[in-house]
Parts: sequence; C-alpha cells; structure tokens
Amino acid sequence: MPTTANAKRKILVTSALPYANGSIHLGHLLEYIQTDIWVRFQKSRGHECHYVCADDAHGTAIMLRAEQEGITSEQLISNVSAEHQADFARFGVAFDNYHSTHSEENRQHSERIYKALRDAGHISTRDIEQMYDPIKGLFLADRFIKGTCPKCHSDDQYGDNCEACGATYTPAELIDPVSAISGATPEVRTSTHYFFKLPDFADFMQGWINGGHVQPQIRNKLLEWFESGFNEWDISRDAPYFGFEIPDAPGKYFYVWLDAPIGYLASFQNLCEREGIDFDSYWRRDSEAEVYHFIGKDIVYFHALFWPAMLEGAGLRTPTGVNCHGFVTVNGAKMSKSRGTFIKAQTYAEYLNPEYLRYYFAAKLTAGVDDLDLNLEDFASRVNSDLVGKVVNIASRCAGFVKKLGDGQLAARCVEPELVAHFVDAGEAIAADYEAREFGRAMRKIMELADEANAYIADKAPWVLAKEEGREQEVLDICSVGINLFHVLMVYLQPVVPTMAEQARVFLQVDSLDWGSRHHVLEDHAIAKFKPLMTRVDTDKIAQMTEASKEVLAEEQKLKEQAKGPLADDPIADEISFDDFAKLDMRIVRIAKAEYVEGAKKLLKLTLDLGGETRTVFSGIRAVYAPEALEGRLTVMVANLAPRKMRFGVSEGMVLAAGDQEGGIYLLSPDSGAEPGQRVT
Ligand code: 2FM
Ligand code: ZN
Repeated sequence: MPTTANAKRKILVTSALPYANGSIHLGHLLEYIQTDIWVRFQKSRGHECHYVCADDAHGTAIMLRAEQEGITSEQLISNVSAEHQADFARFGVAFDNYHSTHSEENRQHSERIYKALRDAGHISTRDIEQMYDPIKGLFLADRFIKGTCPKCHSDDQYGDNCEACGATYTPAELIDPVSAISGATPEVRTSTHYFFKLPDFADFMQGWINGGHVQPQIRNKLLEWFESGFNEWDISRDAPYFGFEIPDAPGKYFYVWLDAPIGYLASFQNLCEREGIDFDSYWRRDSEAEVYHFIGKDIVYFHALFWPAMLEGAGLRTPTGVNCHGFVTVNGAKMSKSRGTFIKAQTYAEYLNPEYLRYYFAAKLTAGVDDLDLNLEDFASRVNSDLVGKVVNIASRCAGFVKKLGDGQLAARCVEPELVAHFVDAGEAIAADYEAREFGRAMRKIMELADEANAYIADKAPWVLAKEEGREQEVLDICSVGINLFHVLMVYLQPVVPTMAEQARVFLQVDSLDWGSRHHVLEDHAIAKFKPLMTRVDTDKIAQMTEASKEVLAEEQKLKEQAKGPLADDPIADEISFDDFAKLDMRIVRIAKAEYVEGAKKLLKLTLDLGGETRTVFSGIRAVYAPEALEGRLTVMVANLAPRKMRFGVSEGMVLAAGDQEGGIYLLSPDSGAEPGQRVT
C-alpha cells in the first residue's frame, strides 16, 4: 500500500512573522490557513515537513507601544505572543515551533550573517541626515512626523505622503513639521548608518528572479524594480531602539527588517535543538531540502530581493519558493472598522466555527496573488451546501443503517469496488492541486466526488429498501459503500478541516487519515456511533460577529484616546459655546465598587454612587489602578453621556482622568468636603 507518491522530501515552511504589537485578524489568517493547509497536506503525504513561525518583536513601534502601556518591551512581546499563539491554536494553525525574533538564537544568527556580509565587503557606512525629536531623544521614522502638505496645504499629514492629495515628499519638505510622538518640532541631525550593499548582488538577483522561485506576476514586479536599479539598504537604527545592537557598533541597532527574516532561521534552530533535527542539512548552500516562505504581496521586496541576497552573501542557501498571496476583502471592500468587517481572530472564534473559515478560504484560494473576497452570505451558503449538505450528509445518511442492520459493522465485502477505486484514483489529481496551492480547484474536485457519492445513495435509496423485508443485506452493502466514499473524502479534506477530520477518524475507527490510507477499503470493519460532525452556519451569528467587531474597535479607539499615548492622535478640541459647556452634567461620585472585567485587559468595571443613584461605568484605567485602591474614593463623572453598549455590558457615563505621553492615567479627585451627587460647574 503506497503511502507517498514520491520519495520522501525534506521541507521547511514559514509564514510571515506577525508584529508583536497587534492582534491577529482575518487578513492575517488567510496566510496562516493557506500555509497550514499546505503543510498538513505535505505531512499527510508522508514527507518530513517542518512549519515554523515567530513573533516579529523588534522596532520603534513596539518600543513606543510598550511605553504607552506602561510596561517593558519584553512584557509587551510576551503578552502578545501568548495572545497570538492562542489565536493560531483556535484556527488549527499547527506550527511545529513558534518563537520570537527577540531570542538568543536570533541574536546569534543575525550577528553571524551580518559579520559574514561585513567580512566579505558587503556592508558600507555613511552619515545621513534625519529628523530628530529633541524631547523624546530619538530619530523619527517618516510615519512619526506630521505637518502641513507642501503641495495642497492640508494639515496633519504624515512625513512621506499626503492622504489628501496623494503627493509624496520627504519630511524636510513638510510645512511646520512636528513629532507625532511628543509634538516637538523636529531637528535635522546627522548620524552614521550601516548599509547592505544590495547592488553587489545584481547579477545573482537577476538569476534568482528568473529561476522559478516566485509566481509570474511577482517576477514581473521584481524585474520592474530591478530595471529601476537598486540602492544600498539602510540596515541600522540609532539607540534608543528595541532590537539587537550591531557588533562593533555601539549605539547602533539592526533595523527590524534585517533580523525579521533571520527569525525564520532562529525559530527553526530552536526546533532543531528540541527535536534533534540537523539544521545545516536544511540551510547549507548545497542542501537538497526545500524551503518555502508564504507571505503577503506587500512584503515581496524584503523576501524576494533583500533576503535571498543576504543569504547568498552569507554563504547560505536561498529559498526554493517565495509564495505570495493577495489581501482579504470582506463583502467586496477593504476590511472596515466602521462596517464591522475588520474582524479579529478572537472575535470570529467567539461566534463561528474556525473550520468554516478554513474551508471557505480553501475553496477560494488559487496559486495567484489576487485578493480574496470573504462574502459573508456566500460564506454561509458555501459552507452549508458543501461541508454540511454534501460531505457530512453522506455519513449521516448511511451511519444509522450500518448501526441498525450491521450492529455498527460494515459489510464484509465492498459491492462497488469500481466506484470506490474511482474515488481513490482521484487522489493523485487532487494531490497535484494541493501541491500547486490550487486549493480551490482541489475543493471543486472533492465536492464533485461528494455529489457522485450522494447521487449513488439517492439512486439506491436505502431508506426505501429498508422498508422491504429481506433486503437488509442490500441496505447494509449500499451504506457501507457510502461510508467508504465518505472515508476517502475525509482523507482529501483533512488538511483543510483537521478538527472535523479527527472526529470523522474516530467515527470511522481508523488509525489515520493520511493520504495513503485512502487505499484501505473498509470491509468487515466496525465504526463508532455517528455524531454530527459539523453544524450549519447560523447567519445570526455572522451579524452578531460584525456587531461585536464594531464594539471591540470602538472600545479600543476610546482607550487609545483616553491614554493619549504617543501613537494616539492628539486633537486640540475646537472652541465651544458656554451653552455647549452647560450641557455637560458632571457630578461628584463615590466609587462604591471596582472590579476586573474578564476578557478585557484594559478595563475596570466601576459601580458609582451619585448620592442615591447608582451607575455602572467601564473605564480604561486598569493598567494604572488596582480595584481595591479605588473603592471608596471620590472622583468626577460625566453623568449625561448617552449609555454605550460595550461587549461587557452597558457603560452609563464616563469618569474623568488626565493622561500623559508616558501612558500615565490620573483620575481626578475633588477637594475634601465635596459630596457624591454634587454638580461640577
Ligand atoms: O509585515 C509584517 O507583518 C512583518 N512583521 C513580516 C515579517 S516576515 C519576516 F521577514 F519576518
Ligand atoms: Zn497634499
């Protein structure tokens, strides 16, 4: 019984490393699900396949976010890593190793690669002028500078392009530039930077781009870039920076994008040490192992230019393939916070089965780089009609008769060996589709087989025969064929819906559903009691999920504004009339009770006494106040704010606090003598 079509291959697979300062959302999940399906398929075929990933933990944005939250960068990345890993587990994304770019392995590999490039003459240094924030004491990347557009004079535009007129420029050209972090006027300062001499690799890159390692559309894009010429790549950043210091260059750090792809090596190294895998057999220049990076089309430049050149320069092998995918749109448009279609992994999983999404993505994925639209109506109808209506239906129609007429034992001989063989033979073409990342094509073939299985059962109508005396064996024979067809289909679907497949494996009482196991026809074989393997998509849940997504993001926005942190916009309010001011009903309140809110990292639930009346308010002050320190104290609230429905309950007002650039929050207190319920004027 063959278990693999080819000789055993050694394959290392990666997905892009998510930044350690944001949550995983459906846009990210497309990539992890695509990669995970491909990896599960390779494992099912019996190949040695390792899937590694890590959090991308370095850089200014992470440093500032940690500062804003009042924690260290190390604490932030550790919290976010735990959240990311929980999200991936929910969606069945089964990494063999999940690591961090802020790891010893990554420091060693980054230093080793850098030194190899430097010693071979591929690093240069020169002084560059850059905007500097004199209050924060750091150099500012373009996105941390704001000012007035030099072309159209719109205010509040970022340092490299204008959202109003689309002009691009340098921060030095902005009118009245300010640091988006501190509000200070930036100064131009000079500092020495380190560069990777990409032009040294022009010939090598030309060969690599044409060597079949990327999809045709990506190759064309790369060739366009190639023709416009390469610059040296700035790989250093000045302190303060959360990252690794460059060897022999005190105060200079590797730019996050230098050590991010090296994180693939670091995570794999960590796996190799744990499992005794030979790291070098994958990464030395003459390695016969295959290495694939799955990425989004926005980061091609880093993976298909810088990364192969760095590896080549450091004497390591280059990737076999860089596999790009497009972006996710929802209902035909970019994911939108206000429409509730910017959906986080966790929010989705609170309402819907993650395997619905895995199947839907698989059904629409190709090997190309086009965007993939998650149409929520189509999502429900496709999952319901294919997985529930076609596949699960086969087992549910047949299992009852096998139980009743065979006491759970399938017929001793399969009466339709040709039909079963036809299903088994389809495996090679389906495997070719999986291999080529043409998952949509594979799903169509699998569903055509499911249609054939259902047509066979409908044609034989065992439920009609079951009513006639003496035809029990015939009914058992038909249903045993149905169960065998279901078995083969579940082998094909296992990479896409692993949880459902595991339940099917238990039902079928087989050891595995690996690709080769489809050859095993189940005869005289006991199966377990049938339990529904998947329920229909409940469209109410989809509506609830989008509502919840709006709330989650509104809440985050509010917290961001309250924290007035370095990354929050800091609008100065327009002038208001006295009448507007008089509309505010501000009251002294006593905090009668303060509690943590399960599932909300930043909120406390406050029960406020307004001198007779009680209000519940959710407030984003958890980072700074312990509940027990608040109970009994007086503060000020806005009492006539319209109640806001939040995920955790209704918030009936707002307590007043000051915020600062460092992420501090200071609740207001009245002088002694003030009483709960008094108006503040
Ligand atoms: O674009 C991103 O989200 C990056 N964090 C991806 C890094 S992939 C690799 F190079 F580490
Ligand atoms: Zn403009």
